[in-house]
Amino acid sequence: MKLLATLIVSTSLITSLATSVVFANEPAETAAPAASAAAKVAKPDLNAGAAKFAATCAACHNADGNSAIPANPKLAGQHPEYLLEQLREFKSGKRANPVMGGMVAGLTDDDMRNIAYWAAAQKPKAGFAKNAELVKMGEKIYKGGIADRQVPACAGCHSPTGAGIPSKYPRLSGQHADYVATQLTGFRDGTRKNNASMSQVTAKLNDKEIKALADYVAGLR
Ligand code: HEC
Ligand code: HEC
Repeated sequence: MKLLATLIVSTSLITSLATSVVFANEPAETAAPAASAAAKVAKPDLNAGAAKFAATCAACHNADGNSAIPANPKLAGQHPEYLLEQLREFKSGKRANPVMGGMVAGLTDDDMRNIAYWAAAQKPKAGFAKNAELVKMGEKIYKGGIADRQVPACAGCHSPTGAGIPSKYPRLSGQHADYVATQLTGFRDGTRKNNASMSQVTAKLNDKEIKALADYVAGLR
């Protein structure tokens, strides 16, 4: 078990390092490779995504994707591949949520892709941490993990700023603390079962540590 956890952490660190290297090199030559990659799959229709979002999703996630309700996640600026995967998993039931399951039931895969890419293109709003003492504890775990319980550093997969690492590791910075705490508790207690890494990461966290991490993440930028 210990070895497995260590392996998972080191693999993810290698993955994230490799990915950041690619990203560091990217800006100079984004245009051409991005265009040819996009040509393989039909381009998402952002206008159609915006219209669907305004009609069906804005009531809970806000018109610009920056939900103002702490239980509902901000979607603006999240990686599109991650959003699309979550929508597909709500639809298949792999990520079980009665509210979101109902929301995506009538959407086609193209609808979900259009919405995901539209939401990802919206400007994310920063958030704020609330409790200075909790934030300190959250920061320590986020950056360094908890060695004697094999809790890995969150920064290894979600990046030190919480920006995440496209396309696999979601952005966390500025996310509502209430939503983050619910997700971490869900991964730990088995109500969110769509990701084995996160189930393992949260297995040994107690409620206070989850609260601390959620508060820290909310203020990350
Ligand atoms: C009635 C309120 C409500 C509506 C309407 C709604 N959502 Fe949600 N959404 C939620 C809640 C609550 C969650 C958190 C679910 C959970 O805890 O797993 C969520 C989660 C999500 C997530 C997961 C985000 C993440 O960071 O993992 C996505 C993506 C999403 N919603 C997209 C949509 C889209 C697209 C629509 C419109 C088709 C929509 N939502 C409509 C309440 C709503
Ligand atoms: C081994 C890599 C890895 C590590 C380490 C890791 N995560 Fe994650 N995390 C992921 C992946 C992958 C997902 C996406 C899960 C999915 O696809 O549903 C995720 C999802 C999440 C989510 C859900 C985001 C959302 O919008 O619903 C939260 C919250 C989260 N991680 C917090 C943390 C925290 C806090 C830590 C440190 C205690 C941590 N993660 C460590 C890989 C990791």
